[in-house]
Amino acid sequence: MLDHPSPLIDIRGVCRSFPKGSGEQLLVLEQVDLTIHSGEIVGLLGRSGSGKSTLLRIIAGLVTPSSGSATCRGETIVGPPNGVAMVFQSFALFPWLTVLQNVELGLEALGVDSTERRKRALAAIDLIGLDGFESAFPKELSGGMRQRVGFARALVVHPDLLLMDEPFSALDVLTAETLRTDLIDLWIEGRLPIKSVLMVTHNIEEAVLMCDRILVFSSNPGRVATEIKVEIPHPRNRLDPYFRQLVDNIYARMTQRTEPKAPSIEGIPGTGIGMTLHHVSSNVLSGLIETLAAPP
Ligand SMILES: Nc1ncnc2c1ncn2[C@@H]1O[C@H](COP(=O)(O)OP(=O)(O)OP(=O)(O)O)[C@@H](O)[C@H]1O
Ligand SMILES: [Mg+2]
Repeated sequence: MLDHPSPLIDIRGVCRSFPKGSGEQLLVLEQVDLTIHSGEIVGLLGRSGSGKSTLLRIIAGLVTPSSGSATCRGETIVGPPNGVAMVFQSFALFPWLTVLQNVELGLEALGVDSTERRKRALAAIDLIGLDGFESAFPKELSGGMRQRVGFARALVVHPDLLLMDEPFSALDVLTAETLRTDLIDLWIEGRLPIKSVLMVTHNIEEAVLMCDRILVFSSNPGRVATEIKVEIPHPRNRLDPYFRQLVDNIYARMTQRTEPKAPSIEGIPGTGIGMTLHHVSSNVLSGLIETLAAPP
């Protein structure tokens, strides 16, 4: 396959706002820059509401930026770009279709013929560890197995970029960990038919465990506050001191407050917006008002 000279995804100065109920605009993303190249797993880490899913939807061609540019292999993203597939937090499977039919669906949309479709779907199901469950319906599967179907459905189209929006957060701790390590093992062994991954999470350990690069988002509005490279070889050990240190550093960055500069009355210490007022009764207050209103 030809390697493209332009980065896979290039986001430049992207802003996005949404109308609020009051008619004003809520600025969700402000001047976001992001580049994704082939061969890397990039994490978007940020608090709830910081605009991570919105950015992912912009890349998936489901939301348009209010300003700035979003390109995939040098071409402006208008509608879902070719070679980009998504895995959802809520699995988003069709309950009336079997595992095999759910997985085949993405290929059907691409116009792949039925023999090839079946072959590739079976291979993806096998790869993701669901061999034997081809004819099961989603309701017959556990959460972890359902999300495996979600992965198989995304992988079957052999996307250049796999977008994942908190793919493990609806799973219990152990199932999530198994699925993470299975995915990373397949990635390291070069068995995943994808070139890069962009993963949204608010789990710091998950980001450090899986990603080559982590972009930490600030909130209100969402902006890339820091970029952190994770230069720990796979398989990563959560108990490794360097791993722990990185997690702690990121945690500190995400929770540090920017102290609001309190305007203070010049020369009078302790005044400003943070000043605590003394408790006074309403009688005292009305006395004060009367005094002020009285003739001098
Ligand atoms: N279609 C929309 N219309 C109006 N407001 C929206 C829309 N999509 C997102 N928002 C608002 O944008 C903000 C960011 O939402 P977004 O889902 O991108 O955050 P997030 O970082 O993914 O949060 P979480 O971690 O909770 O999933 C929220 O305040 C949300 O209400
Ligand atoms: Mg989200």
